[in-house]
Amino acid sequence: MDLDAFTAALPKVELHLHLEGTLEPELKLELARRNGVDIGQSTVEEVRATYVFDSLASFLAVYYPAMDVLVTRADFRDLAMAYFRKAAAQNVRHAEVFFDPQVHVARGVAFEDVVLGYHDAVEEAQRELGLSAGLILCIVRDLPVESAEDVVERMLEFREQVVGIGLDSDERGNPPAKFAHLFARAREAGFKVTVHCDIDQEDTVEHLRQALEDIAVDRIDHGTNVVEDPRLLALLQERGTGLTCCPVSNSFVTDDSKAPVIADLLRRGVKVTVNSDDPAYFGGYVTENLVALTRAASLGPDELIQLQRNAIDISWASDDVKEGFLAELDAYEALVAPPL
Ligand code: HPA
Ligand code: ZN
Repeated sequence: MDLDAFTAALPKVELHLHLEGTLEPELKLELARRNGVDIGQSTVEEVRATYVFDSLASFLAVYYPAMDVLVTRADFRDLAMAYFRKAAAQNVRHAEVFFDPQVHVARGVAFEDVVLGYHDAVEEAQRELGLSAGLILCIVRDLPVESAEDVVERMLEFREQVVGIGLDSDERGNPPAKFAHLFARAREAGFKVTVHCDIDQEDTVEHLRQALEDIAVDRIDHGTNVVEDPRLLALLQERGTGLTCCPVSNSFVTDDSKAPVIADLLRRGVKVTVNSDDPAYFGGYVTENLVALTRAASLGPDELIQLQRNAIDISWASDDVKEGFLAELDAYEALVAPPL
């Protein structure tokens, strides 16, 4: 079996995926028509022609306006279901997925339509695809703190539907510490905590320090700049804090995929995982991200398996889901690489 086929058939876990970043041009156009929203483009080619970005800020400038097409509870369900179908087709068995409610609420969409629409899809994915999923509410860090406070307060009513809280968007001037009170509140109410520390951003090491020391996050999204500070790297290793890396996305937001550093951290025992971030915009779902990393850093099958072990380990899945996944992974490993 060649390595690409091995990667395609590998049972997988996805931990860094923005649902709004899965909005493919075809669905964007369909939702625009359904809701009578003028997005300024009417063909897939025209939509794709707007996908010009070479930094986090230029990506976000395309990503946020597109969300205008999402209006009803059914729209959110349809978006998430389209993603879950793709993920299941790539053998993803468990996915923890971000959503950005502040942006929708600011447009007049009801908070519960967002959460319940996405949750409808979570239930459908379990029922129809055997895929387990959890929703992570992401604070959009460059919107006013008060808007984050509003959605976190609302989130507390949806403990059954939301598993954790995250922090995304433009990092400049928006350190994790700005939202420390909200992470504390969410944790107290039983939610898990993760924070984006994007690649090569301004003050990235200080943001990592705050995430690890001041907030004591459960995991970090991206975060590979941790190699620049041996003390923080040691802390990360000591705690077993995982990193959700996204090699294809990295090559859009910075000038390379950071494959060598991701592979180096993996080989040093850091709980590194590989994920897709915003696949509709960056052109790669989880399999393509694994293939890109495998090629760039010469990973072997044992390392691809280890990435999945790391992912289920740092996931917030139930014990049942974790055990079931590990059993499937062991069986896959034994089938394709029988022990000598
Ligand atoms: N980085 C930060 N914020 C985001 C991203 C990302 O890649 N995608 C969606 N929001
Ligand atoms: Zn992200």
